[in-house]
Amino acid sequence: MLSQLLATAFVTTGAAATAITQDVTSSAAINYQYDYSSLSCPSSGLSTLMTPTYGEAGAVFTVCSSITINAPMAIVRNMVIDFKSYHLWNSFVVSVSVPSNVTETPQDNYVGMPMVFTTSGLVKGSNTTSAEVLTNVNGAGVGVTGKPYLLVSWRYNDELGGFGARAEHPVVIVDLGFGSSWVLSYETYYVGLITPTIALLKNKLQTQFDAQCADLKTYIEGRWW
Ligand SMILES: *[C@@H]1O[C@H](CO)[C@@H](O)[C@H](O)[C@H]1NC(C)=O
Ligand SMILES: *[C@@H]1O[C@H](CO)[C@@H](O)[C@H](O)[C@H]1NC(C)=O
Repeated sequence: MLSQLLATAFVTTGAAATAITQDVTSSAAINYQYDYSSLSCPSSGLSTLMTPTYGEAGAVFTVCSSITINAPMAIVRNMVIDFKSYHLWNSFVVSVSVPSNVTETPQDNYVGMPMVFTTSGLVKGSNTTSAEVLTNVNGAGVGVTGKPYLLVSWRYNDELGGFGARAEHPVVIVDLGFGSSWVLSYETYYVGLITPTIALLKNKLQTQFDAQCADLKTYIEGRWW
């Protein structure tokens, strides 16, 4: 068991070093040249989706949900990063705390902003928390099919420099025209010391991702129209 842990730790350190190098040398390419609107939820539990910060290497599993929402993509994007309103609609992330100088979201959001998510439904009878860092607020592109899309993301902060676990949650919002949008919300978890523990929660995470997408649709369509 110990040697297994050490082997995992070794792989993690190597992968983290690679990710950091890539960030420094070509972060723009990683963030914006890839066509995120070409992604869709994997049909097999063995497939993973890349993320803006960590790419593909070392991905262990992806939790993913998608939904069509009858609202323009900028409206959807603003609701997704209006973290201070999560308690109004989200049955998975039941509240988010942001730094004290952030009085309004999404207006005061900034890349690198630390947040604490309180999540429900993962451990029976209690709420869980996770530290997150905002990694993208205004990603945008045009897919190969000509449809514009927006991209936002945040990553898990294990406060161990990624040694314990790395994970990132992108949300891709594709303009379907006629004032409606397609939303792809996923989180990819990468090799790390505590990733096997998180993997035990995969089915619950999937249920909560699906609930979160349905909640977002209900909230936005109820407000927007
Ligand atoms: C809040 O503080 C952070 C970090 O010190 C800074 O980057 C950000 O611009 C500040 N935001 C506001 C709205 O003052
Ligand atoms: C989880 O958090 C929500 C929202 O803050 C709260 O209403 C609920 O009572 C909490 N559940 C538990 C088990 O603490």
